[in-house]
Amino acid sequence: MSKRLAGKKIVLGLTGGVACYKIAELTRALGKAGANVQVVMTQAATQFITPVTMQALSGNTVYLDQWDARVANNMPHIDLSRDADLIVIAPCSTDFIFKLAHGACDDLLSTLCVARPASVPLLVAPAMNVEMWQNPATQRNVAQLKSDGIQVLGPAAGDQACGETGMGRMLEADQLLAEIIASIEPKTLAGKRLLITAGPTFEPIDPVRGITNLSSGKMGYAIAQAAWEAGADVTLISGPTALEAPYGFSRIQVQTAQQMYDAVMVQLSSNHSDVFIGVAAVADWHVANASDQKIKKTCDTDRPQLQFALNPDILANVAALPVAPYCVGFAAESENLLQYGTAKRLKKNVPLLVGNIGHATFGKDENELVLFDANGHTHLPRADKQTLARQLIAEIAARIQ
Ligand code: C5P
Repeated sequence: MSKRLAGKKIVLGLTGGVACYKIAELTRALGKAGANVQVVMTQAATQFITPVTMQALSGNTVYLDQWDARVANNMPHIDLSRDADLIVIAPCSTDFIFKLAHGACDDLLSTLCVARPASVPLLVAPAMNVEMWQNPATQRNVAQLKSDGIQVLGPAAGDQACGETGMGRMLEADQLLAEIIASIEPKTLAGKRLLITAGPTFEPIDPVRGITNLSSGKMGYAIAQAAWEAGADVTLISGPTALEAPYGFSRIQVQTAQQMYDAVMVQLSSNHSDVFIGVAAVADWHVANASDQKIKKTCDTDRPQLQFALNPDILANVAALPVAPYCVGFAAESENLLQYGTAKRLKKNVPLLVGNIGHATFGKDENELVLFDANGHTHLPRADKQTLARQLIAEIAARIQ
């Protein structure tokens, strides 16, 4: 997420709600991501968090009042909305949703939303009691916001400050940050469905032991995230990793190569996929004589005899389907990347293969990629995995247009 919002000016509007406490964290995160945050609060918001806190966290004077004499022309609704890259209202109360739906202008925040140029995106994060959210009047107003091109973030379901449970919880600060970052990315994969594998696989030897590899899943998760940011509908099939469940798309967790193969085939047969990206470091072999019980060391000379059987090659099988998605493979090599990458693309029969050096990527936050296609190869120089993931997604989007 580092500096993804560099140079962006975000007007962050707070309305009344307990969820204001989450906005302290969001403001810091936006600042860390490089954004210049201009906070505007309604009177109700000041009941929940103070302008002093918001000024300290954003590093900018907080605006509360339409008649603020500090603004030279005394038109804060115009000044604040003109140089904004986007406006985010979080938390957005039931009442403020009503006001936005009807174009009300009875305080600074609602007036600047109405006064914003059409080119300035408006994102709102509803936060309210479950009954207030489900109320038909609220739902009518939310539908109106969506049809007016206002992006509605969440809400989520769960425990509420009032003690009730249900829809209406505001998204968490890190989820709002992900949505804000995604909102500025070009939607090069809008309407496309992507299936992505990530992480290592784990092949059991017995109930407590197994064979795996050093893949952390970071590259695959970063690619899935970049695809989601580009507007794709993403399903991630992941081997065992320490990574948190992603926000915005579904993750199916598996252990073995066979389970990963089965999960991929179920997904492909139940949903049309436009692109398949095999990032997972799939074990080539599984233990054919895995034991149901823990294998005991009976004496120093008694060694277990493991027999290996070949796993299905997921990528090659997907590429061989009668109606195959656009297939992207990965190759982790230890040397001769150009030679092996070119050969592997032809062997797997995929239009695009991404090569990297295994020991230079497994578990690391940075990587370096070489893309092999029918025209030769292209180098994506060393960078953090999120940056490389976005570059790769842009390359894939350009190829499937
Ligand atoms: O043959 P190799 O393992 O080097 O190929 C790597 C590529 O093939 C990766 O895209 C990986 O996800 C995929 N693969 C697979 N099923 C296997 C082995 C590799 O999908 N059994």
